[in-house]
Amino acid sequence: MRISVVGCGYLGAVHAASMAELGHEVVGVDVDERKVAALGEARAPFYEPGFEDLLARTLATGRLRFSTEIAAAAGSQVHFVCVGTPQKRGEYAADLRYVEAAAESLLGVIESGELVVGKSTVPVGTAARLADLVGEKVPGAMLVWNPEFLREGFAVQDTLHPDRLVYGLPDGPDRATAERVLDEVYAPIVARQTPKVVTDYATAEMVKTAANSFLATKISFINAMAELCEATGADVKQLADAIGYDDRIGRKFLNAGLGFGGGCLPKDIRAFMARAGELGADQALTFLREVDNINMRRRIRMVELAREVCDGSLLGKHIAVLGAAFKPDSDDIRDSPALNVAAQLQLQGAVVTVTDPAAIENSRRLWPQLDYATTPEEAAERADAVLVLTEWRQYRELDPVAFGEVVASKRVLDGRNALDREAWTAAGWTYRALGRRAG
Ligand code: UDX
Repeated sequence: MRISVVGCGYLGAVHAASMAELGHEVVGVDVDERKVAALGEARAPFYEPGFEDLLARTLATGRLRFSTEIAAAAGSQVHFVCVGTPQKRGEYAADLRYVEAAAESLLGVIESGELVVGKSTVPVGTAARLADLVGEKVPGAMLVWNPEFLREGFAVQDTLHPDRLVYGLPDGPDRATAERVLDEVYAPIVARQTPKVVTDYATAEMVKTAANSFLATKISFINAMAELCEATGADVKQLADAIGYDDRIGRKFLNAGLGFGGGCLPKDIRAFMARAGELGADQALTFLREVDNINMRRRIRMVELAREVCDGSLLGKHIAVLGAAFKPDSDDIRDSPALNVAAQLQLQGAVVTVTDPAAIENSRRLWPQLDYATTPEEAAERADAVLVLTEWRQYRELDPVAFGEVVASKRVLDGRNALDREAWTAAGWTYRALGRRAG
């Protein structure tokens, strides 16, 4: 099939290459010239394991190309909308300007019988509105909503092997056609018996925000327990293990620590609250405000803990921060808890050196006033405390004995409960973590 993908960020770029991998002829369209140029030369504009290989492989087949011109989408049977929906400045609501611009530009090139497929995370009600627009301007063209659940760091795997497909279809005579076309797009995935939920627009839109709200709630739940563990002397890691054995609860997403960040969870729960307010159903989601609050409190608590281990004052203390990305295997620093803590420490008088295997360049652009180092050893040279704030494998596997040689004081704060506490304490380190007793 001939497919266009409008918007080539994390979602769109990976989607475009994945569709080419499935055998389709794909054009990715983005207004950012540099991004388009990089992608066309098989260079990933962001860090994503496996993506560059996929890109090189699919470009080499001749089935994948990129363009800055929306006209390149003309003649495609299916048009994916993969643009971002960031949080509006100064508001909780999602900023739909890119979705609207993408839809508007597509209206100039699509023809009757073609399918527009929304993948961006949007407030419920957006698809119905866009469907009206499409139907009005291009009679016979169809719109479906097909949310995407990819995680950064696993984007390729999640796109090619999703755990479910969700189709939000129009009512009426186009319904069966739209489903058939989507099934054809995802043929190998459908053939594997991947669970498929065929539903209406509103449900499809809500599936995405509900899923992310659930994940955020799960993380904040365990972080709330961590606060109680700090008050009682209990251990949140063992607590999570013990409740996680109940398969109704499950151990995944129960890692207590600095909490969630990134380009999705924080803005999605806020946009969901804002939309519920518009619909007069805000009470249903007031708990998400608390989920957000618990999450933000962890960052403040981390700074307090750093002050505590630095004998009550951060002034002039040398602090090494290991990790800047919002999670490992990513260079994404959007709403990164790690970088937030690093900046707070610096603003409160500490001398902070940050290191990260992939996100230094992005971090330097956002926070030029922090110091950056390329290795943990360099960052920790003569440090008064070391904070591990993103659980990259490299940091989890640090040898606490050798690493102890470079610092001024062997004090480590494990912001992700990811280090081997026994090994670090055995090597003479003072070990502190959120929700656990001092080691
Ligand atoms: C998320 C959803 O998982 C994905 O389905 C959706 O499509 C986009 O948003 P992503 O933002 O890539 O994906 O990251 P995710 O792996 O969900 O982690 C989000 C944040 O939660 C990270 O900051 C991570 O460190 C934190 N987290 C995760 C915890 O603090 N504890 C956990 O147990 C798990």
